[in-house]
Amino acid sequence: MSSEAAGGRRPPLLTEIDHVAIAVNDLDEAISYYSETFGEEVTHRERVDRDGVEEALIAVADSYIQLVSPTRTDSPVAKFLERNGEGLHHVGYRVADCAAALEAVKASGGRLIDEAPRPGSRGTTVAFVHPKGAFGTLVELVEE
Ligand code: CO
Repeated sequence: MSSEAAGGRRPPLLTEIDHVAIAVNDLDEAISYYSETFGEEVTHRERVDRDGVEEALIAVADSYIQLVSPTRTDSPVAKFLERNGEGLHHVGYRVADCAAALEAVKASGGRLIDEAPRPGSRGTTVAFVHPKGAFGTLVELVEE
């Protein structure tokens, strides 16, 4: 589909908050915190070697809390923890079509980390948008 002319209305591209990702040093410790404090259980745990992380997903209604910790020192999350310490790492927005959402970011002059959609965890298709140009927030577009 070609892009709409300026002024043309289109349906919103973001359908839900997919996840809020929190960078942590010790995944098991963070899981225990959510379990003991809030009674939350991990619904999915996965090691993503491409990104050098292990993640645990905790379902909250239709969204997730994504706890991420690095599996190697050169992973971007390891660098994030070195610079900032533990805390909010990125927000995942659920989209129907990752490629289309990425094109919308490109068309608006936004900076991309991923030039094209790629495989994410849970069999999703994802792309990251650079925080510079997205109000200081690392954004992940997630297509299920
Ligand atoms: Co994520």
